[in-house]
Parts: sequence; structure tokens; C-alpha cells
Amino acid sequence: MNLSHGSDSTQIIYCDYAATGPIRPQVLAAMNDAARLPGNPSSIHRPGQVARVALERARRNVARVMGAQPSEVVFTSGGTEANNTVLLGTLHPGDHVVTTQIEHPSVSKPLETLARRGVEVTAVAPAATGEVTVESVASACRSNTRLISVMAVNNETGVVNDLAALGALAAERGLLLHTDAVQAFGKLPLDVNAWGVHFLAASAHKIGGPKGVGLLYIHKGSRSDPLIWGGSQEHGQRGGTENLAGAVGFAEASNLALAGQQELAGRLTTFRGRFLERLAEAGLDHRVNGADPYPGVLNIHFPGVPGQSLVMNLDSAGLAVSYGSSCASGSTKASHVLTAMGLSPGAAEQSVRISFGYDTSAADVEAAAGIVIAEVARMIGAPFQPSDKPQAATAHHV
Ligand SMILES: Cc1ncc(COP(=O)(O)O)c(C=O)c1O
Repeated sequence: MNLSHGSDSTQIIYCDYAATGPIRPQVLAAMNDAARLPGNPSSIHRPGQVARVALERARRNVARVMGAQPSEVVFTSGGTEANNTVLLGTLHPGDHVVTTQIEHPSVSKPLETLARRGVEVTAVAPAATGEVTVESVASACRSNTRLISVMAVNNETGVVNDLAALGALAAERGLLLHTDAVQAFGKLPLDVNAWGVHFLAASAHKIGGPKGVGLLYIHKGSRSDPLIWGGSQEHGQRGGTENLAGAVGFAEASNLALAGQQELAGRLTTFRGRFLERLAEAGLDHRVNGADPYPGVLNIHFPGVPGQSLVMNLDSAGLAVSYGSSCASGSTKASHVLTAMGLSPGAAEQSVRISFGYDTSAADVEAAAGIVIAEVARMIGAPFQPSDKPQAATAHHV
């Protein structure tokens, strides 16, 4: 990938796919065509109808990724808007919601706002493995519980929650179920009907689509008030002229993700294993945070190495990874996800997230491991192993 910005063409290996990734070339091409269409999908003339056809095709394609009906899909400006819409559009003072302590801020922040308005919020802790158990959610439910909101895959650890079990619980108790599936959509097999979810949020930029586009799945028969009021676009669920090029780009990224899902998961599993093998070979003290995660995400605690400084040093050495989630970057606070899992604040502050994706090569993984080993060894003052030196790689240009 060559994303040279101005005169900056620094070579860097990009291992922060859980934050976002490069747009895929086929996505850009599809968006380019869509962006040239002159019509507004709401117009009844022919240019309008051409745009409408493209929009509805995009809706069918994103719906396919999760086994939904196209009529159940509302395009949004991203995962953040989709999560805000559901929470602010379904919960009222006096309602109770069961959520978790590991949610993304696009879920936890609107819930803080709702709590100030009289909604009762219970946030359950995950197990030490990072998973949210169905038992913990079940025991938090009360007579006034209206909604369960549990993320599908955690953005910091990659840990996967059992949505099908949560769906069965919601059905048994007659509750609504919302899931933030931004880190799952297109990456793992996903079936809204098998899961029994009523609301699901997804985002294009985590799967090689454009930033600033997402979707909200609303199960037919379920209702959420719109967040953005205006025209009757998106079945009256989201006012405003549709982002046609964005929706088309999301659809193209979805098609590519779905077609390559199994192969990519296999490749990422190999990469993850190889990266950990390199750390073990180098004899570096480290612990992996979270059990059985989505294979693209690796959250590692290096005892004695401040995570934020490590991320900055790795950046200088040519490797982009993150400290906690990208949303927490810039904050010196320990990760709320890792501390909820039972790590001490100190251990959480010594953890970093490395995430691989569709454009990661085996050479990137080797080079990334070499850079991490060299920097961690340097920071703990351990003797430097010449074999740990970064190797030449097919580095990306940023
Ligand atoms: C789990 C999770 N939820 C929600 C979001 C927000 O999505 P978006 O960036 O599309 O608003 C992200 C992305 O950072 C995420 O990782």
C-alpha cells in the first residue's frame, strides 16, 4: 500500500487492522463509478432511479453477509451512529438495560447519557478469558429489563462472545438484543436469525471499505426511533440524502470479505501462531490477553514495558500497532477492557494490540515480530539478539 502523504513516504509495516485498514482497490473503483452518478435515489426521474437501483443492490449485498432481508438494513455514517441509534431509540426512563464492561465507547457513552436521563444500566464484567458469559447476563436481568447489549467481538482483545446463546436468553425472557458487531461483520460467519438479534451495528472501514459508512440491522417487527430525523430516506429510519458511493463501497468490501472469509481466517491464524512462535523463540516474557480470539487480533502484555512508550518506539522503528483501542490512544489510562478482565492497571498499561488483516503478508509478520522483539528487549535492557533484528520486508508506505 502506498499512502504517501505529501512528502512523507516513511516506510511502515501496518499492523493496526482492528483500528482500520487500507481501502481495497476494487472498493475504490466501485465507489468511483457510483460517485459519478448524478441522481438522488429519492428522485423519480431516470438518473434518480439509476442511483436507487445502485443503492438497493448495495443493500442486498451487505444484507447477505449476515443473512438479513435488505429491508432490514439502514445505512448509517458508521458503527458509532448505528449503536447510538439503537440505544437512544429504544430505551426510555425507567427501562433497564444489561450491557458489559468491555463495550466500545459508541455503546458505553450513550448509555452513560441515558443513565443520567433515568435509564437503569447494569454493566456485567467479562470472565478472565475476556468472554461475557450468558450466565452473567442472565443473572443481571430484572423485571424491567428491556434490552441486552453485548458486543460480538471485542475490539481490543478480539475475544468472541456467544451471541446465539444470548439470543436464546433474550427470546426466553422476551427481551430485545442488540450487538455491536463492528469487529465481526464480514470477518466471522454471522447469521442474525440464528443469533436471534434484533439490532446489529456494523462498519465498512474494518473490512477494507470506506471510513464513515456503516449499517444498522433492525429485525423486521422491531422498532427503534431514528436518531437523525429528516426526509423519509432509509425507510424513514435515517433522514438525509444517502451516501451512495459509501454504500456501494461498503457492499463491494462486504462481497470481498464474504468470498475470502475462510481463507483469510486461516491465513491470520497462521500469522498469529508464527508471531507468537517468534516471541517464544526470542525468550521474551509476554502474556496473551484474551482466550480464543478472532485470529487477526493479538493483545499482548510485556511485563515491565510501558505500552504507550512501546507503541511510540515501534512507530519510530517502522511498525504501527496500538495501545488499547484506537479510541483510547492518546489517553494514558489503563484499558477498561483489560482491567475488567481482571488485569491490574499496571499490567493493562503494559499491553499492546497488534492486529493483522487482508493486506498483511507473511513477510510483514516476520518483520513486525523482529521489530517488537528488538524494541521490547531494548526497553527492558535485555541483551540484544542479532537474530531479533528487523528483517527487510514488503513494508507499506504511509
Ligand atoms: C467494536 C467497535 N464498535 C464501534 C466502532 C465504531 O465504528 P465507526 O468507526 O464506524 O464509527 C468501532 C471502531 O472503532 C469498534 O471497534
